[in-house]
Amino acid sequence: MTEVQALQASTPEEVEALRIKYLSKRGELASLMNDFRSVPAELKREVGQRLNELKAVATERINELKAAAAVGNDDNADIDLTRTPYPVKLGTRHPLTIVKNEIVDIFSRMGFTLADGPEVEDDWHVYSSMNFPDDHPARDMQDTFFVEAHPDIILRSHTSSVQARVMEHTQPPIRVICPGRVYRNEAVSARAHCFFHQVEGLYVDRNVSFRDLKQVLLLFAQEMFGADTQIRLRPSYFPFTEPSAEMDVSCTICGGKGCAMCKGSGWLEILGCGMVDPAVLEANGIDSTQYTGYAFGMGIERIANLKYQVRDLRLFSENDVRFLEQFTAAN
Ligand code: DAH
Repeated sequence: MTEVQALQASTPEEVEALRIKYLSKRGELASLMNDFRSVPAELKREVGQRLNELKAVATERINELKAAAAVGNDDNADIDLTRTPYPVKLGTRHPLTIVKNEIVDIFSRMGFTLADGPEVEDDWHVYSSMNFPDDHPARDMQDTFFVEAHPDIILRSHTSSVQARVMEHTQPPIRVICPGRVYRNEAVSARAHCFFHQVEGLYVDRNVSFRDLKQVLLLFAQEMFGADTQIRLRPSYFPFTEPSAEMDVSCTICGGKGCAMCKGSGWLEILGCGMVDPAVLEANGIDSTQYTGYAFGMGIERIANLKYQVRDLRLFSENDVRFLEQFTAAN
């Protein structure tokens, strides 16, 4: 009896082994019950009672062990499983990720799909296929990071390289948005960094016009900065677009009246854009007599600065949680 009360087991498997050993059909208790038949009549009452007691004690002990094993072990039996867990501090999304997601979301709703390309690129995709002449200053070592052993391999200095990556294996209609990191050989300061982030857009199809570009960019600006936002396009120059423009939005702080943010002009520059130069379409295997397209490119840090008034670019890459914690995203 006391032997049975002292049975020990800590895992559910060990408890089950004990149950089989003592309580199963071929277990020790069952065989004692079998022997009961040969007990002399005058002892049957006494032995029967003892056997029943033994069975009750064994069942109780095994059930006890089973319950303890389910919790872990006896030492943990006093843990209060109904207590609420410790407050777990969730991380927050990086402000640049929040802004990137928002940009991608707006263009996705207009039918653009995501495209991607490598950060370590070759000269062809970053410059030659984008119509940069051999002596263009952007190819200069002052702007571009070269991989020393391979003068042809560079860190991409803009996401326009993804345009070439997409066009070389896709025929129109093409409607893509390409977010990513880019690198330039700049001294790091509050206003410049040696890496930053851009979003490139490319639309190529039959009969695509500057009017389409303007409408899509107006919709984007109003979704990003509010329904009252106005845009203005100023003529500009990029090797890969003709004509080219820079786009301003009405100041997100003063709404256009003039303030310190917009330096009194009422406008803030946010992106470059234009009609894809036919030479770029041809260089990438697209028939420029059949197709036209537009492209645009914007800096994510620039948009984040306008939304959150972050004055020092370096904050975006320092990983200081006191800065990062201030941003929250719905998704
Ligand atoms: N690649 C340009 C830059 O890094 C931005 C840009 C301007 C992209 C005009 C475009 C564009 O696609 O059409 O400054």
